[in-house]
Amino acid sequence: MISRFNESSVKETLVCDLVECRLKTWKIFEGMDESTFCSQPHPEFSPVGWHLGHIAYTESLWLLEHIGGLPCSFPQYQKLFAADGLPKSQRVQLPNIQETHDYLETVRKQVLQRLEVVDIEKEERLWRFLIQHESQHCEIISFVLELMKWENREIEEIEENINYTSSIKNITEMILIPAGEFEQGSNDIYALDNERPEHKVYLETYYIDRYPVTCGQYWLFMEAGGYQDSQWWSEAGWKWRQTERVIKPLYWSGQRNWDNHPVCGVSWYEAQAYSRFVGKRLPTEAEWEKAASWDAKAGCRRIYPWGDTSPSFENCNCDRLIGHTTPVDNYPAGQSAYGLYDTLGNVWEWTASWFDGYEGFQSYPYIGYSQVYFDHKHRVLKGGSWATRHWGLRTSFRNWYYPGVYQIFAGFRCATNEVLLG
Ligand code: AVJ
Ligand code: FE
Repeated sequence: MISRFNESSVKETLVCDLVECRLKTWKIFEGMDESTFCSQPHPEFSPVGWHLGHIAYTESLWLLEHIGGLPCSFPQYQKLFAADGLPKSQRVQLPNIQETHDYLETVRKQVLQRLEVVDIEKEERLWRFLIQHESQHCEIISFVLELMKWENREIEEIEENINYTSSIKNITEMILIPAGEFEQGSNDIYALDNERPEHKVYLETYYIDRYPVTCGQYWLFMEAGGYQDSQWWSEAGWKWRQTERVIKPLYWSGQRNWDNHPVCGVSWYEAQAYSRFVGKRLPTEAEWEKAASWDAKAGCRRIYPWGDTSPSFENCNCDRLIGHTTPVDNYPAGQSAYGLYDTLGNVWEWTASWFDGYEGFQSYPYIGYSQVYFDHKHRVLKGGSWATRHWGLRTSFRNWYYPGVYQIFAGFRCATNEVLLG
C-alpha cells in the first residue's frame, strides 16, 4: 500500500513551526524586567511569567510525559504551572526570567529529540495542538502587557508612521448574504476539538457589516450618552456597566486619526449595547463564519477569507507585526468572497452565540480544553487580533470569554435581518 503521508516532511514542518513560534515568544520577553515578569495588573489574569512557565509545563506534560511515557523533569514546577494548580493570586511567586528560560529550553531540547523518533502520523494532531497552545498563551501575554501599559497611562500619542490612505466610501455599508447552506467548522489536522466536526448549516438571508465597528462610529454612541442610558443595555449588561464603571473601550486612543481603527477592548455587553443603539444586533457565530468563509460561486468553504494561502502582511494585521490595530479598510486583499473586510486579524469579533460543542463533538486532548466551557456562560469570538499568531487564524477558529471580559483585543461588527431605511 502506498501511503501519501510523508513522515519526514511532516516532521520538518513541525520543527520549523516549533522554532518559529518559540522565537516569537522570546521576542515578547526581550529586555523585560523582573517586576513586569511577575506582576499582575488584574486579578483575573496571571502574570506574563506564569504564562511562559505554563507553556513549558504543558509541552512537557503532553509531548514527554503523557504520550512519551517520560518522567517529569521539573516536579518542583508542577503545581505552580498547572492550569488547575494554584489560584491566580498565588501565581506571582515565580522563578526568575533566567530560570524560566532554562526550563523552557530544557523541555524543548527533549521534545525535539523525541520528535526524531516518534511515529508522527499518530501524533501530528497533538504536536499541532501544542504550537497553538503556545500561540494562545502569547496572545494572553500580549494583552496582559497592554493592560499594564494602559493602566500606567504610558500611552503617549501613538505614532502613525504608516501613511494610511482611507478608501472607505461608506463605513456603515452592509452586505447581503443570501439564504442557503454553508459548511461550518473544520476537520483539518490543525482544527481544535471545538471546531469539529465540519457540518452543514442553513441560514436565512441576513445583512452583515462590511467592516468592524470603528472608533469614529463608536464615538457617536459615547457622545450620545450611550454609557449613561440604560435603554441600550440588557439587564445583565447594565449591571456590568455599573459595577465595572466602564465609560469607554479599554484601548481607546481618543485621537481623531484613529477614527477608522476598529473599536478595541470592549466587552460583549458594550458590543450588544452599541448594536441596539444603531438598530442592529450582533451576528451569530454561523452568520459571521458564513460571511467570512463561504465561497458561494465555488460552493465551498475557504480556510481564510481570501482563499487557502496562509495569512501574510498583505491580507491581515496579525502576528504582532504592527503592534496595534490598523484602519478597517487597510487590507483589500483580505476580503472574503462576499466582500467583508478585516475578518481575520486586527480585532477579535464578539458574536451573539454561546460557546457550545457541535453535534458529534469529541473532547481533545482533555475535557478542560473546551468542554468545561460549554456552560452557556461564555460567548464566541471569531477572527483573531493584531496579536494572534498565524497558527490561530482561520475562519473556523473559535475563541470564548465571559461576556464581561474587556481586556482582550476584542471589537465587533453588526448584523440585521433587514436593511434599515435612511
Ligand atoms: C481559548 C483563550 C479561551 O485562555 O482559557 C490556553 C486558551 N486553553 N490553555 C484560555 C487556553 C488552555 C483559552 N482560550
Ligand atoms: Fe494553557
